[in-house]
Amino acid sequence: MTIPIPYELRDDLYRRPLAAALERLGDMTGFRCVDVGAGGGDVSVALAEVCGERGRIYAVDIDPVRRNQIAARASRFSQVVALTQAAEELTLPEPVDLAFCRFLLLAVAEPGLVVERMVAATRPGGWVIIQEPITSAGRIGRRPLSMEAPGVHDPDIGAAVLELLRTRRVEVRDAWIESPAGIGDTAVARYLEAMSETLVTEEQIILPPLLTAIAKVL
Ligand SMILES: C[S@@+](CC[C@H](N)C(=O)[O-])C[C@H]1O[C@@H](n2cnc3c(N)ncnc32)[C@H](O)[C@@H]1O
Repeated sequence: MTIPIPYELRDDLYRRPLAAALERLGDMTGFRCVDVGAGGGDVSVALAEVCGERGRIYAVDIDPVRRNQIAARASRFSQVVALTQAAEELTLPEPVDLAFCRFLLLAVAEPGLVVERMVAATRPGGWVIIQEPITSAGRIGRRPLSMEAPGVHDPDIGAAVLELLRTRRVEVRDAWIESPAGIGDTAVARYLEAMSETLVTEEQIILPPLLTAIAKVL
């Protein structure tokens, strides 16, 4: 049985790429955003913080259970609106300034369709940010990471994100890869334990690198 990855831990370990991506957009006060595949709502809360009270964050997830979780997690932020919806059918009440997803495309059968819907949901001049893993580029010692988990279609989808964006109505403005690394009994080791049920403390761990792509909608 796989131990569910604590969202707080993921948020903490992958906070740096998230912060770097949002910083690239400059002042986001008042932005309308969608967090697609919002999960426990960590990214939605981060977006609510940077967009402020005049912003609006649509936190979309296919799993109806997530709606209550997100509502609880984002209870301090009236600007977060949790919606139960499939990313493939993304439909929002208004065009957004930013469509964001993290650790979503690895879980869907048609990532190109999801990217298409994210682009369509965003106003011209707005932004699409995608953060997805290249799991096999992670390492335990010298050995590549692998991940076979229910609901994971493509653990290496990060390696195809720029290709997915290239054929859409966007211009890729920035892209990079980052991964948390550590040795010993660290948060990195605990995250790996949650993914693989193995606690590794003697070898260097490189968690799945996250490819971040920032694209401007034309
Ligand atoms: C691994 S979690 C990532 C959560 C969050 N984005 C994060 O980075 O912490 C993936 C989420 O995507 C949701 N999901 C999977 N397939 C989806 C789909 N087709 N449409 C919308 N959400 C989906 C799952 O229910 C889950 O909450």
